Amino acid sequence: MINTSTDLYCVLGWPVGHSKSPLIHNRAFADQKINAVYLAFEPRDIGSAVESVRTLQIKGASVTIPFKESVMTHLDWIDEEALGIGAVNTLVNKNGKLLGYNTDSKAAVDPLKPFGIKDKTVCIIGAGGAAKAVAYGIWKHQGRLVITNRTVQKGRDLADRFQGRFVLPQDLKSLDPDIVINTTSLGMEPDIDQMAYPARLLKPGMVVMDAVYTPLNTGLISAAREKGCDVIDGLSMFIAQGAAQFRLWTGIEPDLEILRKTVLENR
Ligand code: ATR
Repeated sequence: MINTSTDLYCVLGWPVGHSKSPLIHNRAFADQKINAVYLAFEPRDIGSAVESVRTLQIKGASVTIPFKESVMTHLDWIDEEALGIGAVNTLVNKNGKLLGYNTDSKAAVDPLKPFGIKDKTVCIIGAGGAAKAVAYGIWKHQGRLVITNRTVQKGRDLADRFQGRFVLPQDLKSLDPDIVINTTSLGMEPDIDQMAYPARLLKPGMVVMDAVYTPLNTGLISAAREKGCDVIDGLSMFIAQGAAQFRLWTGIEPDLEILRKTVLENR
């Protein structure tokens, strides 16, 4: 029941109408019998939104596009991993001090661990915010990082930052990666026919991960499955980053399967 002791959590982003974060966090709070609610806010200005978090004693927040970088200057402390990535996606309000974390990197890396990352050639498609978090995780785990991106300079900069190399999209055939990770919006509804990585270059045994989860079975994921690759869909990444946020806020590990089912049932 919502009462005067109910704690407030939220997502800060623009736009956030499509966000599934309220769905999973409210479900996790209910399952754990925690008296808290999670709402979605679309502030125009992240500085005043962070002030509101302080003033209203909001206990924690997810931060999403376009504020993951700009939020950083408004916080009291930033975790080493978030500093390394250069982006914050989670705020924790600890007795009035606002702490910043990033759970995106761990969310991408954790599902890859069973396949091994060290010394594997990992091709990341994209060089935006999500790509930065994934590249950081691969670099930390000593994968051989390869970046490909439409805008060449952005791709080169990201590759240089994490000791990787850059490959032009048209030169991907010269590469034989163990792991392919799409961090762009290519393949997302409504443009579901767009392929982030050419299907003809997929081979059995490759691990293919897609950050896109609308649709769940993107063209890339479907093609990879047909070719005998191991696949990790975007919902796995989304749930993992949310679960890590929930852990930071409550210290409790939510049930990933229940959260996944909740999203699938509310599409
Ligand atoms: P996010 O924080 O979700 O990563 P972003 O920072 O806007 O979002 O980055 C989006 C990434 O997807 C970029 O690498 C972008 O390529 P550019 O650097 O060339 O802009 C990539 N991307 C988006 N739409 C694309 C498209 N139609 N074709 C190729 N790449 C695309």
